[in-house]
This record gives sequence, C-alpha cells and structure tokens, in this order.
Amino acid sequence: MQIVQDSGQLSNWKGCALIPTMGALHEGHLSLVRAAAREWSGPIVVTIFVNPTQFGNQNDLLNYPRTLEHDLEQLRPLGIAAAFTPSVEMVYPTDHQIWQPPLPPVAMTPQLEDLHRPEHFAGVAQVVARLVDLCQPQRLLLGEKDYQQLRVITEMVERESKRWPGLVVEGHPTIREPDGLAMSSRNQLLTTSERPRALGLVTALQAASAAETAAEAESRMTQILLEHALHIDYAVVRDATTLQPITSHQQPSRALVAAHLGHVRLIDNLATDFGSA
Ligand code: PAF
Repeated sequence: MQIVQDSGQLSNWKGCALIPTMGALHEGHLSLVRAAAREWSGPIVVTIFVNPTQFGNQNDLLNYPRTLEHDLEQLRPLGIAAAFTPSVEMVYPTDHQIWQPPLPPVAMTPQLEDLHRPEHFAGVAQVVARLVDLCQPQRLLLGEKDYQQLRVITEMVERESKRWPGLVVEGHPTIREPDGLAMSSRNQLLTTSERPRALGLVTALQAASAAETAAEAESRMTQILLEHALHIDYAVVRDATTLQPITSHQQPSRALVAAHLGHVRLIDNLATDFGSA
C-alpha cells in the first residue's frame, strides 16, 4: 500500500475503485474496502481527508476525530493499492478555483440534512468531485448510513456522465455494532451515559419497519426518540430515491432519523416496506 499525499502519482491507479473517507476508520469503512476487493479486480484507492467545506459548524470540524496512523494500520492488511491523504492545500489550491458541481434536487428539496446542515451537500459534492477528478475511478463506493449523501452523489455522477464516463456509484449496507447502533466516526464522541440513549435511533427505525403505514411509522419513531431523551431533527418516511414524502405505500421507501445527544448529532436510516402490509 502506497501512502500518497500528492496527486502526481495518482495516474498509476486510473480506473480504480475509490472509497472516499474522512478517516477515523471503523468496520463500516473497512467493509467497503473488503467489498471492493471481492468485486473489483482493479486497484483500490482509499482517500482520507477531513473536508473543511462540508462542516457548517467550526467546532464540529475541530472535534472531528483524526486517527491517521491507526487508519493506515487498519488499511495495510487489506491489500489496497494506495491511501491518498492529501493536505487542504492540495485539495483546495489557493491559486485556482475548484469546480463546484451543480447540486441535484435531492440535495436541496427534501428538507432533511439539506435543511439542518445548509452548506453541507455543496461541500460534499465539491470534495467528491475533486477526488474523482484527481483519482479518475471507475467505481465509487459509499455506505448507506449517510443515505441522502449517497443519493446526492449518485445523482451528481449520473448528471456528470460526460465528465466521468462509465463511473458507477455503489451504495453498501450500513454496518452496525452488535447492539444495532450504526457504526459512525462520531460514536467515539459519545459519553458512557449517552451511548445507551443512542440506541433510540435504531429502535425507532426498527419500529418504523414493523409499522403498517408511513404515518404510524413516523409517530412511533418520534415517540421512541423522545423516550430516549433525544433532540429530534427529523424522523420521517420518504421515497427511497427522491427522498420526497411518499404518495403510495407501494413506493420503495426509507425511514430516516437525525437526532442530537448533547453535542453529538447522529443519523441513521432503514428500508421500509408497507406494500406487503
Ligand atoms: O461520508 C463521508 O465520510 C464524507 O462526507 C465524504 C463522502 C468522504 C466526503 O468528504
């Protein structure tokens, strides 16, 4: 595994499978690397870059866990071609403007993350576009935990098919702790007393997937999040593709939640199926 800070060498791995991360790697990220290794015969490149432009809140950026040495230790046995760990100056050079891709509607209209983190998807789209331009992958692997992000990037890549011909975005299922908590770099920021309350998110989603209607799912989720003393940003059922409110129970749908515990904000989601009820 080569550790690359400069873009010069990246042309060696053109056509790779790319896994963009902000580091603080956990089993969710490592499972993406293993999936790429199983399904892809070409080189695999993992990027580790805490992207300042996607954090609205400077404290959130400062508190974001940074564990580069441990991240590289975890990647070494997995047989990837390269870990790309660029500096902020490499990704955002001061002498020229970095392209800001136009955002698809799913980044602006659902009133989910777009409402609660207004600058977030512009920053995510910009950094992912920049990393794709630099690494020129054929596959882009992302987890489903940040579900709206997955939809935003999928639609951005579809719209930019001339810029990135043949690039395919693959979403992979969320990896969970044994008790169900979705793996997230932010889990490290939870205190011992907050950790059990964080299970409110997955308990709420499981209740939503057992509900018979979207309205029942939303009301059960709200009740369970409040019982866990969580401050709710949203607890909704949406169309699985557009993230708009559903108009029929036959549509593939997704329950999505976001809530705060102290200074940590957690999100999670689960597929729902009311069609067979
Ligand atoms: O999901 C993340 O970790 C980040 O948003 C991403 C996709 C690596 C862009 O910085």
